[in-house]
Amino acid sequence: MEKIIDGKIISQNIREEIFSKASAFKASTGIIPGLALMIVGNDPASEVYVGMKAKTCEKLGFYSLIERLPETTSQEQVLAMIDEWNNRPDIHGILVQMPLPKHVSDMEVIKRINPDKDVDGFHPVNVGKLVAGIPCLQACTPAGIMELLKRSNVSLKGKHAVVLGRSNIVGKPIANLLYQKNKDANAIVTICHTAAPDIAYYTRQADVLIAAAGAAEIIKRDMIKEGVVIIDVGTNRVEAPDTEKGYRLTGDVDFNDVYDKVSLITPVPGGVGPMTITMLMYNTLEAAIMQSR
Ligand code: GUN
Repeated sequence: MEKIIDGKIISQNIREEIFSKASAFKASTGIIPGLALMIVGNDPASEVYVGMKAKTCEKLGFYSLIERLPETTSQEQVLAMIDEWNNRPDIHGILVQMPLPKHVSDMEVIKRINPDKDVDGFHPVNVGKLVAGIPCLQACTPAGIMELLKRSNVSLKGKHAVVLGRSNIVGKPIANLLYQKNKDANAIVTICHTAAPDIAYYTRQADVLIAAAGAAEIIKRDMIKEGVVIIDVGTNRVEAPDTEKGYRLTGDVDFNDVYDKVSLITPVPGGVGPMTITMLMYNTLEAAIMQSR
C-alpha cells in the first residue's frame, strides 16, 4: 500500500480547484484577486519564497506585486506601506515575509495589517477566531496540513495527535485546528516542546504526529507507535558535501528509519512544503471574495 502522502499531487488538485473558483469569481464580478508581498532586507531564502509566491499568483491569474525594501528601512516606513496597501481596493491580501530585521517588530507589523487582508492568518484577530472556531483566514501551513489529512482520509476523531513545536506559524495554530469540534478534526491534542524532559514519552503515544520542531531527523523509529500517521513540517538544511548545492533538505523525522513502522508519512521535500503556497492562494481568493461582499 502507498504510504506516502504526496503534497505535490494534493497541492496541484487544490490549485485546480482554486483556479476554477477564481475564474468564476472573475467572470461574475470582474475582480482579480490581488496579493501584495513585502521583503525587508536581503535574506536569500525569503527572496526564493516570495518569488515562488508571486509566480504561483501569475499561474492562477492573480495580480501580485513585490515591494523590496532595504535592511535599513524603519518600522514606520514598513507600517506606512501596509497602511497604503490596506487602503488599496485592488489588493486583497498582504504578506510581509518573515524574518524581519531586528529593529522591526514582527507583531507590530502583523497587527497593522487589516485582518481581512491577513492572508498569513497571523493577526491576533484571526488567531482568536481560529481558537474560537469562527471561520477566518487560517495560517497557511497548518491549513495545508489539515487538507493533507482530510484528502488522505485520515480520521482524527478521538485520535491522539501530538504536535512537536509551539511556534506561532505552525505549532500553536495546528494544535488549535486539530481539536476543533468539527467533522474534519475532533482529535485529542498534546503540544510537546523544548521543555519536555523526554519527547519520546509523548511521541510514542501519537496516532498522528505533527513534527514541527525545526531539528533535523530527531524522530527515530523507537520514538513512534506502529501505524502512526506522520506529518513532517521540518525543512532543515544539512551539509551534503557530495551534492551540487553542498546541502540537502531533510525533515524533523528520520524518514528511512521510521518508514516501515508508519501507516502514512509526508516526505521532505514534497510533503507539507507545496501546501503552504497553495493555501496562501486559497486565502487570497477567499479574502477577495470576502471583500467583494
Ligand atoms: N517565513 C517563513 N514562513 C512564513 C510564512 O508562512 N509567512 C511569512 N509571512 N513569512 C514566513
